[in-house]
Amino acid sequence: MSLLSLKAVGHRYPGQRLAALSNVDLELAPGQALGVVGESGCGKSTLARICAGLVLPSQGSVHLYDEQQQVLASSARAPIHREVGYRRQFYRQVQLIFQDPAAALSPRRTILQTMAEPLKAFACFAGEPLALSAARLLGQVGLEEALLHRYPHQLSGGQRQRVLIARALAAQPRLLIADEPLSALDVSVQAQILNLLHELCERLDLALLFISHDLAAVSYLCERLLVIRAGEVIEQGRCHQLATAPEHDYTRRLFAASGFVA
Ligand SMILES: Nc1ncnc2c1ncn2[C@@H]1O[C@H](COP(=O)(O)OP(=O)(O)OP(=O)(O)O)[C@@H](O)[C@H]1O
Ligand SMILES: [Mg+2]
Repeated sequence: MSLLSLKAVGHRYPGQRLAALSNVDLELAPGQALGVVGESGCGKSTLARICAGLVLPSQGSVHLYDEQQQVLASSARAPIHREVGYRRQFYRQVQLIFQDPAAALSPRRTILQTMAEPLKAFACFAGEPLALSAARLLGQVGLEEALLHRYPHQLSGGQRQRVLIARALAAQPRLLIADEPLSALDVSVQAQILNLLHELCERLDLALLFISHDLAAVSYLCERLLVIRAGEVIEQGRCHQLATAPEHDYTRRLFAASGFVA
């Protein structure tokens, strides 16, 4: 059973000579966690944007399924359905958590105002006051209700990342995409956010696409791993297998560079 599948997906940004991504096949089942690794510029964020429906791939197709395995959205049909309709389906089911929580939160909005946006847009908890839903979501990520009335600059980096995760959960998504969610954080805070993601995925049965340079973090959260080099998937498999017996020297070097010991 699939939640998201990519078939022979390639992408070339307008005006670019080289493709950012080529011939990527990917299957993600509900509740499954998949790690994506590769050196800088290899196409990880491009893959994240395509999986989130933010970018329509220039080749191949992306399919998003509902619980009954019906296609909710397909990039193959997007030109007919128009891009907007295609994206709307993704916004609800798939939420992206960004690398830099300070940049992703509007400095002029209180946390409550930030949380209210998706709560209103998706009406997931309709029938209860917004502040109550927002407080409950903050509770899920380990934050006090009192923070609702603060502005982003009045929070720590770790608290801001928790707010972003809470905002993502407001849509009641089935897939979280986290693109380097730890890299703007202090090392001690990284471990807390990692634990939080792990716990939320288990409790809410969320699928996760986790992009990180930190192979130890990827291996902690994900059973399976996709290795990308220059826009192509060169290897995929279980983390332990890739860490101990990689087929490619590139994979071995990635593990070595991140100091990961299997
Ligand atoms: N909006 C864009 N327009 C043109 N080229 C782009 C755009 N975004 C990314 N690229 C190019 O596409 C390639 C893949 O970029 P991408 O951001 O997906 O890499 P990445 O693996 O996420 O890198 P990093 O680890 O540094 O975040 C790079 O060569 C990059 O320069
Ligand atoms: Mg990136």
